Amino acid sequence: LVRAPQAPRGRCRGALPLPRGASLPRRGGAAGPSAGQVRAAFLRFFEERHGHRRLPSAPVRPRGDPRLLFVNAGMNQFKPIFLGTVHPRSELAQHRRVVNSQKCVRAGGKHNDLDDVGRDTYHHTFFEMLGNWSFGDYFKEEACSMAWELLTEVYEIPRDRLYVTYFGGDASLGLSADEECRDVWLRLGVPASHVLPFPLKDNFWEMGDTGPCGPCTEIHYDHVGGGRNAAALVNQGNPDVVEIWNLVFMQYSREVEGNLLPLPQHHVDTGMGLERLVTVLQNKRSNYDTDLFTPILDAIHKGCRAPRYQGLVGDADVGRVNMAYRVVADHVRTLCVCITDGIYPGFTGAELVLRRILRRAVRFCSEVLQAPPGLLASLVPTVVEVLGDAYPELTRNANQDIINDNEAAFLSSLERGRRIIERTVQQMEPSTNFPAEVAWSLYGSLGFPLDLIDLMLEEKGISLDSAAFNELALEDAKRKAGGLQAGQPGNTNTHLDVHSLAWLQRSNVPATDDSPKYAYRLGQHGQYEFSPCQATILMLYRDQSLHKEVGAGQRCGVILDRTNFYAEQGGQDSDQGYMIRLGQQDVLFPVESVRLCGGYVIHEVTAVEALRAGDQVQLFVDEAQRLACMTNHTATHLLNFALRRVLGDSTEQRGSHVTAERLRFDFDTKGHVTVEQLQQVEQVVQDLIQKNEVVHMAEVPLTQARRVQGLRAVDEGYPDPVRIVSLGVPVENVLTCDSEAAMQTSVELCCGTHLLQTGSVEDLAIISERQLVKGISRVIAVTGGQAKEAREVGQCLATEVDSVSLRMKQRITSIPEMQNLSKEVGQLTKVVANAAMPQWQRKELQTILKALQRTANTAVKKLELQQAEKAAQILLAKYSNQPIIIDTVPADSLSILMKVVNQLCDKSPGTSVLLLSPQASGEVLCACQVSKNCVPTFSAADWAVAVCTQMEGKAGGSPIVAKGSGNARGMQGALTTALEFHGNPCSRTVPCFVLR
Ligand code: SER
Repeated sequence: LVRAPQAPRGRCRGALPLPRGASLPRRGGAAGPSAGQVRAAFLRFFEERHGHRRLPSAPVRPRGDPRLLFVNAGMNQFKPIFLGTVHPRSELAQHRRVVNSQKCVRAGGKHNDLDDVGRDTYHHTFFEMLGNWSFGDYFKEEACSMAWELLTEVYEIPRDRLYVTYFGGDASLGLSADEECRDVWLRLGVPASHVLPFPLKDNFWEMGDTGPCGPCTEIHYDHVGGGRNAAALVNQGNPDVVEIWNLVFMQYSREVEGNLLPLPQHHVDTGMGLERLVTVLQNKRSNYDTDLFTPILDAIHKGCRAPRYQGLVGDADVGRVNMAYRVVADHVRTLCVCITDGIYPGFTGAELVLRRILRRAVRFCSEVLQAPPGLLASLVPTVVEVLGDAYPELTRNANQDIINDNEAAFLSSLERGRRIIERTVQQMEPSTNFPAEVAWSLYGSLGFPLDLIDLMLEEKGISLDSAAFNELALEDAKRKAGGLQAGQPGNTNTHLDVHSLAWLQRSNVPATDDSPKYAYRLGQHGQYEFSPCQATILMLYRDQSLHKEVGAGQRCGVILDRTNFYAEQGGQDSDQGYMIRLGQQDVLFPVESVRLCGGYVIHEVTAVEALRAGDQVQLFVDEAQRLACMTNHTATHLLNFALRRVLGDSTEQRGSHVTAERLRFDFDTKGHVTVEQLQQVEQVVQDLIQKNEVVHMAEVPLTQARRVQGLRAVDEGYPDPVRIVSLGVPVENVLTCDSEAAMQTSVELCCGTHLLQTGSVEDLAIISERQLVKGISRVIAVTGGQAKEAREVGQCLATEVDSVSLRMKQRITSIPEMQNLSKEVGQLTKVVANAAMPQWQRKELQTILKALQRTANTAVKKLELQQAEKAAQILLAKYSNQPIIIDTVPADSLSILMKVVNQLCDKSPGTSVLLLSPQASGEVLCACQVSKNCVPTFSAADWAVAVCTQMEGKAGGSPIVAKGSGNARGMQGALTTALEFHGNPCSRTVPCFVLR
């Protein structure tokens, strides 16, 4: 066991000096500044001393990047800037210098630390990355000098403890060493012995397989110091010498073919792990010994039976306990942050990774720390205390229920998994490996951790067939990756690459004027009239390059000077339609999809004839599709408002998708939405539709818009100026300082296309509502004619349910009749479950149908019993206490026949009975029961099999009771067989009565 050594005491600082003489509260003594103070000093240094704009952390759920599981670096949210695809008017594009503290999760995917977490004292799944950025502004000189100033003057880290690395070049890529960077460090006074070149793998940063990248320079810290030269330990995985800051100089873009092209603009992207920095500044040797973790470790100790955390690493029992503390402390931070940002434990992608993280934490809680269930969730308030100031969203959204529910589910599947392993092992041939398929199914479907499977098998002295297991894992990974190949954007004709974008901008090709998308009005008869739009082709895009001409038959992206097409944005699907090239002969080109990229709207078409820059085109959107999208989008705003009205002000939007067919809306809920609440929500929407409120839309400066009280906005990068959509209240009224309009009506930031009056929605029906996870619900709703249709369907089904219910209440004495009713209820239940009908009505009908099914089942059972009792009484009277009865009786079903047999044997325990019952269909049912006295020599199953075989049928059962069936043609023979049943000593020695 090793205790992570402490740094020499002499070097402790009490606090951090802030820029311009501002003072930082002292924590005193050797403790050093708190993590909060370290974070704040970083942000203020760049903001106040170097003119950076402070931005909040992006949520850890990546937006618009399907290749990323979690946000794993500060630069993720700025990728559109590096790629040049950012809209010039968007909020993001307004800043050239930015600073922030970003929540990052590295687990699964390219940067995967999950399995290392807990083993050592510095790996984490969640960490905070402090970063400063220059977007086409300063470069190497200033970036290095600011970093040096902050570390040595503000944080007062002794210079001789710091080492810097730079890119040493790569001959295979034709890249020379980054001497520019080396010289900057030397100029800043870093001794040459502390300025070290490293190859591509250490000093060239790439975000993914393709995209912006460049050489980087890292700053490393020597925890030991004392005048030694630790240059040889840099980048050697030595815990004494750790990287604290990475400064990336984005100057290339890695292309799909693997080559590097210079970027049109140079950027700086830096990232410093807060946890490591705090460790340095608090004179600790382990991140877990800093105040980012100690409160959580203390809370774990209070909730478990294990001894206190001692900071030990190693494999012995006590080391494992310490590892468990670290695993739980790390994982609960990740869980809190992810759940807050809308990633929940689940079955695919990031959600699957989160599920594994949760399960790993639960295991360490229960198995190593011996904590009762609930410990993990109980740590949430402590995490919120530690991180809530920096990330206020945690105080609103951290959810203990999700953790508790998942823990309970996991503990029960753990038990199931254990049983499956036990059973499989019992059935295994000696000296064979544990079957990979079983392990894979435990791992894949039950989420049983692989290391736990290994451990349990090891305890039994068995190994897993690892080769076969890996093959299954590989196949699965291939299947999952099937759709999208890394580095291959879904559609290369509408995704402008960074070079084409830069070329367009350099050549002063103006961004597409897409204001005509809002050019529509209400006609005299209340119909929407859309104006066509005439435009000029500016450029064509195909196979990742811009063209002046594209030949016939080729698919391409068309960039126009103006357009009335809506490109997919803000959850609303893009328009479809067509463009007509004007000329001697007009030619029609269908527009299949539309995308917005860096301010340019790209229309994807197949060039039925050659297209050229300069061609004039007339654009027509598919009006029916557009109108349906507009209706559903306005209805989404009505719904958002109504949900808040009915469920409370804290009901926040979590996601939205508008198509021509339906709208989908995710939101926070405290519990299940009840039938009454669903009805009320629909009613609030109906009222707004009835009022036929005007939908006011206007563009306003973003800062002014954000000040509106009660405004609904999601965490999107809105353009500036931004569009406000307000129902019933003119936008200028909403904007006045004291206006509470946004509290009373729906006011949203939204770039979508909307109806002009709410009456055009006509109707809205919520046709589905379910909890995605605890605390988040998803509704799907339809509007207009579809909503009316849904109500009609609901009405029809309600009438059918009424009719069954009425018939059920009539006195029914026939079993088949009651069975038919029960079948009808079953079928109706299926129809109701799947019909597009109002959800509140579905829930109501489902409650009624459930009760009807129960009534029908009870009635059938009662009638069957009555019939059986009657038949049994007749037979008993006829044979009174005979040892064997073989007879034919009328019975409507096999279950009744079994009941008759059972009644007979109950009342006459010494009797064995075999009954046949011919049915109208030509089938003969058979049931038998053997008296306990005869069981040792006489099996009911054998008896039934012998009899049914005679009737060309089948039978089965136990030695005591059995049943089967056959064909009426063999019935006479079957009765004889029943009587003469071989191997039945009873049948030979006792008298037997057969009724024909
Ligand atoms: N992108 C770099 C990193 O993640 C610097 O921020 O290390």
